[in-house]
Amino acid sequence: MSNDSLILGIESSCDDTAAAVVANGKVLSSEISSQQMHSRFGGVVPELASRAHQRRIVPVVRTALRKADVAPSDLTAVAVTRGPGLAGSLLVGLGFARAYAFGLGVQVVGINHLEGHICSASIGRSLPTHPWLCLIVSGGHTQLVFVEQGLSFRILGTTRDDAAGEAFDKVARLLDIGYPGGPAIDRLAAQGDPAFHRFPRARLDGYDFSFSGLKTSVLYYLNGLGEKKRTALMRRRLPDICAAFQEAVVDMLIDVLHRAIGETGVRDVHIVGGVSANARLRQRTEALGETCGVRMHMPPPAYCIDNAAMIAFAAHIRLSIGRTDPPGNPVAEPNLPLATFA
Ligand code: KG4
Ligand code: ZN
Repeated sequence: MSNDSLILGIESSCDDTAAAVVANGKVLSSEISSQQMHSRFGGVVPELASRAHQRRIVPVVRTALRKADVAPSDLTAVAVTRGPGLAGSLLVGLGFARAYAFGLGVQVVGINHLEGHICSASIGRSLPTHPWLCLIVSGGHTQLVFVEQGLSFRILGTTRDDAAGEAFDKVARLLDIGYPGGPAIDRLAAQGDPAFHRFPRARLDGYDFSFSGLKTSVLYYLNGLGEKKRTALMRRRLPDICAAFQEAVVDMLIDVLHRAIGETGVRDVHIVGGVSANARLRQRTEALGETCGVRMHMPPPAYCIDNAAMIAFAAHIRLSIGRTDPPGNPVAEPNLPLATFA
């Protein structure tokens, strides 16, 4: 019997339908079908998301298998996101994965979406062998996690209100530059001046974050200008406003990371999730790594955003260290926390 692992990963927790094939930890294919229909609503509409997952999941899985040049009968496991996420969206991925695995006679491994993100910076490499810090910055989550070998997690800090990506999305909506807002702000900010305006930075005790005050201050700033000035500013200085807002978000993230590196003494820091694709954050992270003498890892942009390669890879890690908890078939858990293990 071969010890090879060939895992099909499925991710459908929000508005991306994704499938990937990972062989012994190496990604053979990673397909993402992003749902554009939400952009005109300025946010994800759950009912539309789950219907789109239903239409797309079969073709996306087929394409992932074809690109990986893998026959379904060669698969050794199916990995699927079991939470957190939108209930209807999770159910589509889970229903498909359970039926598919049953048909093939292989096990189905339920993966916490956040664990997938945590593992994403190690795709193509191995996990660090000593404790490391992982900053998860996505549309739904902002968490600073202390990770130990064997995938044991201690949450050091979390957001008290909006997630970092949510702040990008909400400010992009104020500026009327589309959804998702992160990539749009990132693009515009590249031509802007971060010193154009200083938006306030929240600094909380410990390692918690807060972004809703920043979002409100952008709103007050725009409203305070009056209509004529605001229209002119939005026409001529949009990149500057984006750069000034983005700099405030990045400052807050870097400040917390800097303190946490000093106080935990880790040698490796991973930054993952959609916002880790941000060019300015990546630049500032590299600089922080040099200042503190720590190794900074961020996934390539394709593995920053939601994808199924990270789900299949996380399952590969779990299976390789003999962790198959929880037992039994996974079910959808929309509010699933990142389990902390002693
Ligand atoms: O990880 P992800 O794809 O989904 C969640 O698990 O939430 O993250 C999506 C979030 C969105 O809020 C999006 O605006 C943000 O990541 N994002 C970015 C960038 N690319 C995506 N934020 C800032 N800069 C980017 N380049
Ligand atoms: Zn995510």
